[in-house]
Amino acid sequence: MQTLTPVEGAKSKNELYQQICERLQDLLGEESNFVANAANTAALLFHSLPDVNWAGFYIAEGQELVLGPFQGKPACVRIPFGKGVCGTSAAEQRTIVVPDVTKFSGHIACDTASRSEIVVPLLNWGNLVGVLDIDSAAPNRFDDDDCEGLESVVSVFLASQATDDLPDFDDRNAQA
Ligand code: SME
Repeated sequence: MQTLTPVEGAKSKNELYQQICERLQDLLGEESNFVANAANTAALLFHSLPDVNWAGFYIAEGQELVLGPFQGKPACVRIPFGKGVCGTSAAEQRTIVVPDVTKFSGHIACDTASRSEIVVPLLNWGNLVGVLDIDSAAPNRFDDDDCEGLESVVSVFLASQATDDLPDFDDRNAQA
């Protein structure tokens, strides 16, 4: 495993995300522990992405999301599916970009400094494992390149997981 060094000096967003994915692959290595890998993914993103004030995971449990490893200010612990940006992304199983959080009905303000947000679902063969949430104090911080880049980051993270180790999706489907 490499030491955690943030990615610096990329010339474009695409290059930045490519370097983050490569660094993440090295960082995760052969490790498959969910919490450890989620924690290092959040730390790498928080320290490599410019203008970000929160980066982390919510994990699917029953019909709600529960706070997972993150970097940033303390955050709300439980978000029902369908609520807020995270719960909407989970319910609709799609990436959601919010250019202005004050205009997103039902936005959950964990850090009042946040102005824009992107949430990417973690899908394991169609089963929702959780979401990756990134916030920024800058309005309109996230675009299509961030969608594509963060979806690639999520793929690298999920590839580090033995399918059977992913938390709770069997349980959730049983209740659905
Ligand atoms: N703003 C999110 C809640 C999570 S915090 O941003 C960390 C939402 O509306 O789902």
